[in-house]
Amino acid sequence: MHASRAAALLICLLALPAKGAADAQAGEAVFARCKACHSLEPGKHMTGPSLFGIIGAPSGQADFAYSPAMARANLIWDRSTLAEFLLNPNTMMPGTKMAFPGLRKLSQINDLIAFLATQTP
Ligand code: HEC
Repeated sequence: MHASRAAALLICLLALPAKGAADAQAGEAVFARCKACHSLEPGKHMTGPSLFGIIGAPSGQADFAYSPAMARANLIWDRSTLAEFLLNPNTMMPGTKMAFPGLRKLSQINDLIAFLATQTP
């Protein structure tokens, strides 16, 4: 897709109401893109830290060797911080060692967040 079309599409998606119809089941499928590096088991860290209970959690707090950027980011992982991070990890957080190009669709991110929200104690 041409870059300006992609940008226009992104703007349309960002204009969708935040609530939308987020679908946890669809989000589980999106999580397949994260699975190579992240588990959903508490304390089970792989290339990336476990994402169990991540929604609403402070950033960089697991017993994991974070990059300095992540270690000092001092964020709460909510819908907006996570959406911004997942759209382009390196733009939101220069120096992060999460080697992931980013998800392109806000609808996918909303579904993913709905799924992650089910993975809590
Ligand atoms: C290639 C491996 C890889 C992939 C794929 C990946 N991540 Fe990560 N992720 C990491 C690493 C490594 C870190 C630690 C980053 C740092 O310290 O800068 C991280 C950090 C995170 C954090 C911060 C966790 C914390 O404890 O603060 C979140 C949230 C996250 N990833 C979500 C995701 C999601 C959701 C996906 C799928 C869309 C994904 N990641 C895909 C490797 C990956």
